[in-house]
Amino acid sequence: MSARISIHTLRQMKSKGERFACLTAYDAMQASVISTAGVECMLVGDSLGMVIQGHESTLPVSIADMTYHTACVARGNRGSLLIADMPFLSYADATEAVRNAKSLMQAGAHMVKLEGGAWLASIVQILRQNGVPACLHLGLTPQSVNVFGGYRVQGRGDAAGQRLLEDIQELEAAGAELFVLECVPQQLAARVTQATSVPVIGIGAGPATDGQVLVFYDMLGLNVDKPPRFIKNFLSDGRSIADACQAFAHDVRHGLFPAPEHCFD
Ligand code: KIV
Repeated sequence: MSARISIHTLRQMKSKGERFACLTAYDAMQASVISTAGVECMLVGDSLGMVIQGHESTLPVSIADMTYHTACVARGNRGSLLIADMPFLSYADATEAVRNAKSLMQAGAHMVKLEGGAWLASIVQILRQNGVPACLHLGLTPQSVNVFGGYRVQGRGDAAGQRLLEDIQELEAAGAELFVLECVPQQLAARVTQATSVPVIGIGAGPATDGQVLVFYDMLGLNVDKPPRFIKNFLSDGRSIADACQAFAHDVRHGLFPAPEHCFD
């Protein structure tokens, strides 16, 4: 990748109607392959609790785990925007949020990601005032799996859809720089993406979002146990891992991924 991607780049891409790609990364080698393949963003996801550590959810992941993997990814990054997840209960109040965001930013993140809606507006403001851009993850937020009673599509029905739109508007006003929308009906994701000038990355949210993200191992077809409907194996046809990353980025940019079979209504 030639130039370093920033949030400014993503905003420009959104305004021109250009799609961008994002993959999770957990170590330096993955980061090097993903960024060299031209994938615009990398997310050090707390999904590492499940795919690296073997837990059943993301809840056991600590800020020390996230800081370690963020530092590994930062050392391998060749120019992608690097987002790092704030783990479960690491941003329940402003003091905790600032302390934990400091750890991730000093490890090399360019932005931190928090899961939740309008109730996080004051935390987003405080982070921003302290030089930390925030990405907000809405819809199916895996840290709330016990509230949802499982990994289920969120935002179905008029009232839930309206709540999500209001959350997005309040978070944008508070200074959110990026949104991730997970497992929501594709029509709702399209409305949300239109309603905000902030770039929106989707996962299981249909083709209309500004960007798409997949977990690295899902993109390589390694999730064979219970693959969710929204994933696709890009490592088929004798491709190398680098080629698979490029194919993912290509298909996102050209609107070929996600296809109808990866979406929810
Ligand atoms: O933790 C993670 O990998 C994520 C993505 C699935 C969006 O939050």
